[in-house]
Amino acid sequence: MKKITIAIDGFSSCGKSTMAKDLAREVGYIYVDTGAMYRSVTLYALRHQLFNEDGSIKVDLLEQHMPQINISFKLNAETGRPDTYLNGECVEKEIRTLEVSNHVSPIAALPFVRQALVAQQQKMGCDKGVVMDGRDIGTVVFPDAELKIFVTASAEVRAQRRFDELQQKGMPADFDDILKNVQERDYIDSHREVSPLRKADDALELDNSHMTIAEQKQWLMEQFKKATTTL
Ligand code: DC
Repeated sequence: MKKITIAIDGFSSCGKSTMAKDLAREVGYIYVDTGAMYRSVTLYALRHQLFNEDGSIKVDLLEQHMPQINISFKLNAETGRPDTYLNGECVEKEIRTLEVSNHVSPIAALPFVRQALVAQQQKMGCDKGVVMDGRDIGTVVFPDAELKIFVTASAEVRAQRRFDELQQKGMPADFDDILKNVQERDYIDSHREVSPLRKADDALELDNSHMTIAEQKQWLMEQFKKATTTL
């Protein structure tokens, strides 16, 4: 069967990555978590003191460092899912902390960061057969994707999901801090100048606030079948 490109965009913590990973596994496609790439640049910037005391970014310095930031994905045989590597080190856990979440939006708003990561993402998906999740996949990275999904859920539902996820992993979590972070990121992600988060005109919208993972999975498989049979 001819392979297609699947773009899954939406707000933070709305379950995009779970949906995207499951779909990719089910249909044998490659999964790319583009948020993990912006998070990896943020982790690098934190480790190399590229933030000022007031939280602003040392933009010129970060731009000089960009060519040295190498991000890749390797399949984890145990989980069956790809792990994120930053300059050869597995950083899958380190990039999910609240500290990284609190610093990532301004990093993702920098045009030179987006330019570099979008180019890598387009390369990763050039042979199709890819499920990519992020904020600008259907609008900027793959505007010609055959299947585009835009996922939404209320901020409270999303904060609760992230809270549960952190607790499960035994990582420190405070619900109010997480909710504040979710709301702040929504605002920055949808108001930034470069590639703001918005639904592509031809994307299908899915509000999963009151859906189970199994229901979402079924809905997504139906959309996949429709998109591949109408080719
Ligand atoms: O999906 P996530 O929460 O892991 O994404 C982390 C941040 O990266 C989020 O604040 C928005 C940004 N991002 C982006 O600007 N463009 C993407 N394609 C993916 C993520």
